Amino acid sequence: MQVALNLGPIAEAEADVLILPGFEDARPELDRPPATWIQQVYDSGEFTGERYALAVLHQPAGLRARRLALAGCGKRAEFDAAQLRLVTAAAVRSLRSKATKRVAMLAEAPPPPADAVAAAVEGAILGAYEPDRYKTDPKKEESRLESFTVLAPGGDPALERALERGRIVAESQNYARDLAAEPGNRLTPSALAEAAHRLAAEHELACEILDRDRMTQLGMGALLGVAQGSAEPPALIVLRYRPSSAIRRGAHLGFVGKGVTFDTGGISIKPAEKMDQMRYDMAGGAAVLGAMRALALLRPPVPVTAIIPAVENMPGPRAQRPGDIVRTLSGKTVEVLNTDAEGRLILADALTYAQRLGCTHLVDLATLTGAIVVALGHHYAGAFSNHQAWLDRFLAAARATGEKVWPLPVDDDYMDYLKTPFADLPNVGPRAAGAITAARFLKEFADPRPWVHLDIAGTAWLEEDKPFMPKGPTGVGVRTLVALALAAPASAD
Ligand code: BES
Ligand code: MN
Ligand code: ZN
Repeated sequence: MQVALNLGPIAEAEADVLILPGFEDARPELDRPPATWIQQVYDSGEFTGERYALAVLHQPAGLRARRLALAGCGKRAEFDAAQLRLVTAAAVRSLRSKATKRVAMLAEAPPPPADAVAAAVEGAILGAYEPDRYKTDPKKEESRLESFTVLAPGGDPALERALERGRIVAESQNYARDLAAEPGNRLTPSALAEAAHRLAAEHELACEILDRDRMTQLGMGALLGVAQGSAEPPALIVLRYRPSSAIRRGAHLGFVGKGVTFDTGGISIKPAEKMDQMRYDMAGGAAVLGAMRALALLRPPVPVTAIIPAVENMPGPRAQRPGDIVRTLSGKTVEVLNTDAEGRLILADALTYAQRLGCTHLVDLATLTGAIVVALGHHYAGAFSNHQAWLDRFLAAARATGEKVWPLPVDDDYMDYLKTPFADLPNVGPRAAGAITAARFLKEFADPRPWVHLDIAGTAWLEEDKPFMPKGPTGVGVRTLVALALAAPASAD
């Protein structure tokens, strides 16, 4: 899809559909005949400005566009960039048809113009996304959007930068969604490593893949224990983004993403129902790759290293058993009481490795626990941290990009739940506070570096269609990681 910025008058905009935001408490103003139609649809109650509602007028007199659409935006005072992103996505989705190839939309205040332009473009690109690459119906092609133009009449040409940023971020988020949607038979750990390799070759990133032998040499016993039940070899993916001019003594970010390409649970096998969803157990890794793609294009002045432990969790003949004890890269030993708590095992070694590579500030993204869904449902991702200032930066980045994140505790009291007489740590606790004990386990491997863990098990996959998004992968985390790197700390402390 092409995107463009148009600073000219609305009436001159060429499009199949011109979208005007309409509020519950404020009607769009137009100095042309469609103004009467706008009054009528409002007065008749046909269109109230309710969020995601749409009213369409064909052949609007006095406009160049072929159709005029009013898009419901709710209350004006509650309207921000996040709302604009969702409204745009929903409008693009409901207008899909073979007669809709070129869409133009007015980027409406209250958000500041640059934020509004970026949010509208992101909404359009995200809303046009379909996880249908394995559908063979060629008709689908006919209703693909060809262009999206943001209208900012009389605006500053510098808004082009916001347009470009929005395009890069949303395309990178869709890249992550494509990876997360890939089924387990297609996206094995080697295939994920291959994808990272291609990504690095296309954009200016360095890529290194550690194979099983190298990980054995290094002593990544926790990661290797998970991998040993599968016929598919594991891969530890390392991608490096290096800016042309880094701030001296500045931070070096480490983005770690869980890359379980399929999670059967291993010997502690999962029930059949919904097991198909475990294809997205690499959504954290996918989000990290998506963020690296965006950073390679946006080039912020901060070095970022991505580390994605990629494994398949299978109950094969060599699989690890409940009760097995493994030695992590950090030297700490872990008793594997439940082979389905595999994410924290591979992340433990990845977090230690990130520190060895010199990362000063860590973030990990993982579809880690079903318990985070019990705690927060499918609306918020859960954030955990050992460092208040770093968490605050992370939460600010999430808020600025419209990704919903809520903090939960990980203090030492929760170590009461992680006790075993046989090793330094068990990999699971009792039922209580499952998302927190998982995070508390990770903290053992992230300390002493500032670290945030984001549990996206409830937010990385949408279980049913929403007006602004189809069932499937959401790409959650990409926008926050990018915003975090763009606002990176100037010093290493
Ligand atoms: N990948 C799952 C977590 C998950 C659950 C992701 C639902 C997405 C949707 C993780 O590896 C897992 O199996 N966690 C266990 C931990 C338990 C054994 C302590 C869980 O949540 O049941
Ligand atoms: Mn599991
Ligand atoms: Zn898992």
